[in-house]
Amino acid sequence: MTIQSMGVCLLSVIAAAMVATAPHSAVAANYDESKVPVYQLPPLLKAADGLEIRSASDWTEQRRPEILKLFRTEVFGIAPAAPETVSFRVDKIIENSLNGIATQKEVTVFFSKNEQGPKMRLLLFIPNNQRSARPAFLGLNFNGNHTVHRSPKISIPSSWVRNNKTTGVTDNRATAKSRGTASNRWAVDKIVKRGYALITAYYGDIDPDFDDSFQNGVHALFHSPNEKPAPNEWGSIAAWSWGLSRALDYLVLDSTIDHERVALLGHSRLGKTSLWAGASDERFALVISNNSGCGGAALSRREFGETVSRINHSFPHWFCDNFQHYNDHVNSLPIDQHMLIALSAPRPIYVASATDDQWADPKGEFLAAREASSVYALFGFKGIEATEQPPANTPIGDRIGYHLREGKHDVTDYDWDQYLNFADRHLH
Ligand code: GCU
Repeated sequence: MTIQSMGVCLLSVIAAAMVATAPHSAVAANYDESKVPVYQLPPLLKAADGLEIRSASDWTEQRRPEILKLFRTEVFGIAPAAPETVSFRVDKIIENSLNGIATQKEVTVFFSKNEQGPKMRLLLFIPNNQRSARPAFLGLNFNGNHTVHRSPKISIPSSWVRNNKTTGVTDNRATAKSRGTASNRWAVDKIVKRGYALITAYYGDIDPDFDDSFQNGVHALFHSPNEKPAPNEWGSIAAWSWGLSRALDYLVLDSTIDHERVALLGHSRLGKTSLWAGASDERFALVISNNSGCGGAALSRREFGETVSRINHSFPHWFCDNFQHYNDHVNSLPIDQHMLIALSAPRPIYVASATDDQWADPKGEFLAAREASSVYALFGFKGIEATEQPPANTPIGDRIGYHLREGKHDVTDYDWDQYLNFADRHLH
């Protein structure tokens, strides 16, 4: 080796080391399909002991529990069982809401005996003049229940709320200024007119979405002050999912709602949450992931748009600490996100992407949803048969639904139309 080539060699070693240690934000995200690495997904239909999974019972008894456990201990973290101390109080009933087509209700879910402690307020819109208990959509919201509809009768959360120009929140306290600011994402009238109830709660009631070492929200009920959850214990997504299960505990007691026909819906980080809530609580009848991306429906091994490393650096509180081990070793993850989707089988599940939401890797979301179809086949159901991602605004699939909507990272009326059609097909 000449001195010159030794110099070049040394420089490239230094450059490689700099890339490896550079903060993730210094390395541009990959949006180039030709740069997606060659990868092999962990198999859905082969158990850890090598057994081929050939039947629904092999899946239910052997493969599903082992995959569920891996997501619990390596990705989202183990959440505690429902405490016996949870209680519910119906606070408000307005019978002629939405110009008379719905009954609006508010219910407080107390997570402990202490009424001043963490609690979540559910907002329900239930169709009027129905002879039977209603199927429902249940989804968490980002900025408070009062943002989903402009009705002045919806209570404003008292818990910590993110400062935000659209909602006019400047000191982490919500005010009446933000009424209805998220109503474009919640097609309340449409949902009710189609015969479904809509139930929502503010996610920050369950766990405020910032990295505070889990000193507030429901974590504080289960860990002593200054004690962090263990590396395999729940982060915020697992806490929000836990809260959704507590909401369902209430719905079981409400005779106006058919608790066996509750569809979970979540957007973005809350789409990751609905996937995990549906996987960990099989009482949910249908699961919808809207633009959930990394840690949600998108395959991690594609490393397209947001990656495991980026998400763990930007949002270290969302997942359990064990997930950090895979930041630079995504191929050693024992799971990938097709398995998260498959955990909902045989229940109907819908994955939606948007063309301008490349950060969430629409193609990776499609591929994961398609891969999960092999598990649905064990139950005699068709998932997604298409091998290519469909063009924009072309919903496909049977028991697994998928669409790529034209437009940005958001929940639109178009998305709701597809979810309502899908729920009509599978919940009636
Ligand atoms: C960020 C984050 C995503 C997340 C999104 C959201 O963009 O990187 O993972 O889905 O926020 O929740 O809005």
